[in-house]
Amino acid sequence: MSTLHVIDHPMIQHKLTLMRKEDTSCKDFRELLDEISMLMAYEVTRDLPLMEVTIKTPICETKQNMIAGKALVIVPILRAGIGMVNGLHRLVPAAKVGHIGLYRDPETHKPVEYYCKLPSQLEERELIVVDPMLATGGSAVDAISLVKQRGGKRIKFMCLVAAPEGVKALQEAHPDVDIFTAALDEKLNDHAYIVPGLGDAGDRIFGTM
Ligand code: PRP
Ligand code: URA
Repeated sequence: MSTLHVIDHPMIQHKLTLMRKEDTSCKDFRELLDEISMLMAYEVTRDLPLMEVTIKTPICETKQNMIAGKALVIVPILRAGIGMVNGLHRLVPAAKVGHIGLYRDPETHKPVEYYCKLPSQLEERELIVVDPMLATGGSAVDAISLVKQRGGKRIKFMCLVAAPEGVKALQEAHPDVDIFTAALDEKLNDHAYIVPGLGDAGDRIFGTM
């Protein structure tokens, strides 16, 4: 079974509380999401593989560590996942970006795929699939299945707010994928929105309420 990491650093909790408030503007919501994503990225990348390199300081030659392997890949689930890319890029500027377009059908709440463009050689890369909301888990489960179909093997999922239902669904479907979230909320409501949550993340990022 995968591990659920709740990254509840005080600064992240403070910023997330501001995001949850209904009167927070789109501009502030986007900026806060960006800041939290960068803070979370620090933990999500904690176990990246290292390689030893020999360098020369002004004092002597020495063996030190650098990140090993091919550039990692950030995979935002469109639309709302886009809001987390910049924060990750600030910590890992060389990361490549793959996009997966999914939206939840308003009646069935099931994800509908409309776009998929991923970098090559996925099997050799670390991948972080990102979406602010893990509600029923349908979108994350399908996005990660697509990444695996294209060869992805070392995958993590990073979100902002998770519901217990989504965590369960994702852990059952992809037991090899660790989940990183800033908060584990109470439950889903009858419309499959997270309670207390923060509303529709995509609408709040892009101002489409
Ligand atoms: C939201 C959110 C996730 C999905 C989560 O996207 O950004 O992708 O819902 O719900 P789930 O866990 O029940 O699948 P939405 O479908 O509203 O699309 P959008 O990002 O384009 O607004
Ligand atoms: N998608 C959102 O944007 N918010 C929720 O609470 C659930 C799904």
